[in-house]
Amino acid sequence: MQMPNLLEAKKRTKIEPKTINYEINKEYKNLGTNKTYHIKTYGCQMNEHDTENIKAILEQMSFKETDIMENADLILLNTCAIRENAHNKVFGMVGRIKHLKESRPNIIVGMCGCMVQEEVIAEEIISKYKWLDIVFGTHNINELPRLLSNSLQEKKLNLEVYSIEGDIIENMPAKRDSKYKAWVNIMYGCDKFCTYCIVPYTRGKQRSRTKENIINEVKELIKDGYKEVTLLGQNVNAYGKDLDVNYDMSDLLEETAQTGIERVRFITSHPWDFTDKMIEVIAKYPNVMPYIHLPLQSGSNKILKLMGRRYTKEEYITLYNKIKEIIPNCAITTDIIVGFPGETEEDFKDTLDVVNTCKYDSAFTFIFSPREGTPAAKMEDNTPLETKEQRLYELNELINKYARQANEKYQDKVVPVLIEGPSGKNKDLFMGYTDTMKLVNVNTTKDNIGKIINVKITDVKTWSMDAVEDKSE
Ligand code: 5AD
Ligand code: SF4
Repeated sequence: MQMPNLLEAKKRTKIEPKTINYEINKEYKNLGTNKTYHIKTYGCQMNEHDTENIKAILEQMSFKETDIMENADLILLNTCAIRENAHNKVFGMVGRIKHLKESRPNIIVGMCGCMVQEEVIAEEIISKYKWLDIVFGTHNINELPRLLSNSLQEKKLNLEVYSIEGDIIENMPAKRDSKYKAWVNIMYGCDKFCTYCIVPYTRGKQRSRTKENIINEVKELIKDGYKEVTLLGQNVNAYGKDLDVNYDMSDLLEETAQTGIERVRFITSHPWDFTDKMIEVIAKYPNVMPYIHLPLQSGSNKILKLMGRRYTKEEYITLYNKIKEIIPNCAITTDIIVGFPGETEEDFKDTLDVVNTCKYDSAFTFIFSPREGTPAAKMEDNTPLETKEQRLYELNELINKYARQANEKYQDKVVPVLIEGPSGKNKDLFMGYTDTMKLVNVNTTKDNIGKIINVKITDVKTWSMDAVEDKSE
């Protein structure tokens, strides 16, 4: 049993993380023979990519994937800690799984991901959910074979969650969801400590992968036929700052573009670290997509300061204008939190003001959720929930208006789309994204799946567009 600890998780040691190569021990390779697994994933792209690693590890152990949770011999929940409602969703699911386990006591049930990195959650599991089999954190996914082997041998809760981040694990296998688009981690953890955010505790100290390992992974993906990579990190603009090298995110982006991969994206950016050189690289390389997710969080300087965001409303708008000036077709999306402790009507108006200035292509909007152990959770918060909900509603109305307006500019235009597969809405259509990350349902043929084709936009909605293949060339 290894419990997470909040104080440990907060520490930033000077210890250099080691890079170690993942390898599965032979003795674990047949443990899953004739057994199936099912994973439910909550939260961000980082978690989705972790799930791709977990799936591949399980398949090395001979487990097979099933889409039907009720049939699975192994059920894993890969959890998210970012807001309280993720907690409720996960424990609702745990309740459902308990019934399954009552009728099939031999199934193995596990929890992993960010939530279990929280000390309070680990304690909750030990006191109320002792019937779970394995619990492991974000730092020890590579230990899954050993943990599972223990669980198969002895039927008792096996909880191993470390708070001090471990090494950078290279060569972990991945069973990727897509054959055309791939996530590529460039760094782990975050050192920004925005006052509301649990991520620096659950994902630990910032650790950048070496450029050689990242570029090699991209080159391998090209060989395997991938068309698009998304460089992934909590704050990609801080890439390399923890390494003793004179090489930053703009260099990495440029070198990734030079591999010749057809599309490069990156998420998530922090406005504070966003350099002019980044903008130049995006403008210079046609295969770096003109799309930036640039979280604002709040438009009020007072709230930004309380959030520890290190920029003002004016600095944010200056950066925004610079991007739009140098890359005019760049789509910009954002994240906004309403109802942060101390947010007055005036502060909220400042946020609306920035939205009216930036007219975002789209945005994720949230009501502030206090996360235990973060500084913001201790701040005095007198705003009633009803007011916060009203603000969220008002903000969403505005966001939707601008999202639709941004899409309307595409009407009758010809744009490139990477066709991914059949559309979820209409089986006769095929879905994909433009270079600017707009979802498009295209009237085309299935031989275009996996290709970037030109399409003509025939209809626009708030969150998607319709198009036909453009054969005019
Ligand atoms: N409450 C509400 N929203 C949050 N986010 C992060 N932490 C919290 C919190 N405690 C939002 C931020 C971030 C996005 C991933 O989630 O907007 O950019
Ligand atoms: Fe959280 Fe801020 Fe780090 Fe983003 S940059 S993960 S919001 S602490």
